[in-house]
Amino acid sequence: MRDPKRVAILISGRGSNMRALVEQANGYDVVLVASNKPNAEGVAWAKHRGLQTWALESKGFGKEEYDRLLSNELDRHQVGTIALAGFMRILSPWFVDQWRGRILNIHPSLLPKYRGLDTHARAIEAGDAVSGCSVHIVTDELDAGEVLGQAEVPIEPSDTPSSLEQRVLAAEHRLYPKVLSEFVSR
Ligand code: GRF
Repeated sequence: MRDPKRVAILISGRGSNMRALVEQANGYDVVLVASNKPNAEGVAWAKHRGLQTWALESKGFGKEEYDRLLSNELDRHQVGTIALAGFMRILSPWFVDQWRGRILNIHPSLLPKYRGLDTHARAIEAGDAVSGCSVHIVTDELDAGEVLGQAEVPIEPSDTPSSLEQRVLAAEHRLYPKVLSEFVSR
């Protein structure tokens, strides 16, 4: 039995959600920060913070080949829960099956609205009055698993995709640690 409180965070870039999950950890331990982009800003922050990190460029590997290496590393750290935080790779069906029900993701829209990319531009374009973010379970279908928690933010008439992104991001940083805490103790 894997301990759900042993959490790995997977990132590809800036890592602001990863930082929020680390800084607001409550009821779980971040035992590994893994990245498919060794130069990601978030990896440097995690190292500086003294966290265990694993970073391997995914380019050049077959999808499942890479995911098997990643999975081995997660096992080595006895990870029980995986939190995707700006991990810009679609996981292989093999990996999702291996870790079924134990992978969470944060998505910058009120799912089921706006799966995929460019969520803020699409919400503004549609004339929506509210947007927000969702934490959900990862399944084989992109951004389609059970939603565990959501936070709403208003869309102002003057918003651009980037001003809306900032407001949603602040909400993400409050929502994700709270939902992860609840998830690992359920
Ligand atoms: C966030 O908007 C998150 O919702 C999405 O990717 C972005 C990651 O940002 N999945 P950061 O790397 O956590 O700053």
